[in-house]
Amino acid sequence: MIKKVIRALARSCQCEITRIKPPAPLPDIPDAGLYQPLYSPWLGGGEFKTYYDLASPKSLVSPDRCYVLYTLIRQAVSVPGDVWECGVYKGGTAAMMAAMLSRFAPDKRLYLFDTFAGMPQTDPTKDWHQQGDFSDTSLESVRQYVGHEKICIARKGFIPDTFKGLEQATIALAHIDVDIYKSILDCLAFIWPRLSVGGFIIFDDYGFPSCPGARAAVDEFFKNQICVPLCLPTGQALVFKHAQ
Ligand SMILES: C[S@@+](CC[C@H](N)C(=O)[O-])C[C@H]1O[C@@H](n2cnc3c(N)ncnc32)[C@H](O)[C@@H]1O
Repeated sequence: MIKKVIRALARSCQCEITRIKPPAPLPDIPDAGLYQPLYSPWLGGGEFKTYYDLASPKSLVSPDRCYVLYTLIRQAVSVPGDVWECGVYKGGTAAMMAAMLSRFAPDKRLYLFDTFAGMPQTDPTKDWHQQGDFSDTSLESVRQYVGHEKICIARKGFIPDTFKGLEQATIALAHIDVDIYKSILDCLAFIWPRLSVGGFIIFDDYGFPSCPGARAAVDEFFKNQICVPLCLPTGQALVFKHAQ
């Protein structure tokens, strides 16, 4: 009996090992070079790269995180509502999203919220960032870089003041990349009730040690909600709104 159990355990361990490290020689599979060690499509070319190339010169967001955003934009095309980005900085991820929406969902609007002049006041007990971080940008330079003026609406100033007048909004996808506790809670308080069922919020900075306030705010907000944030190995967290 004991021998049987040990053999079964050994077999299941073997399965785990082969799932991670296939036996040499590698099977002839498409894009074999993208297994590094797991399949990592953001390292390849193709359609994603054409959009990522728009983000990368002006973005702090790494290719794997941009890939997550890219797949969510593709899915948001069929969800009612617009796309919001809170935390635009120099416009890198905004440029990628604007180009994708222009092609795949030209009826959607891309709302861009930032001071375009740096971080507001932060909470030293919760945040690592300081007031004035990310101030080397401007609304004019972002507008010029992002383009697609027919679909982009920039709101310059402090969140949540810049949400005023948008109480009737419907949102399909929100990219929240504001890094600090209060800004994230303010975003969630306004965006979550306006997010369509079937929509998503992606938090860029949830798992970063430089953004402890981001994780604290997300965890606090969703503590008693039925929707649960999914922590990704990229550092992001993703929430699907599956019910009202
Ligand atoms: C990490 S940057 C955004 C990075 C950008 N998505 C990219 O592609 O590189 C964070 C931005 O959040 C903005 N921000 C944070 N809190 C804000 C608030 N309450 N109101 C307006 N902007 C805010 C900062 O001004 C900063 O530009």
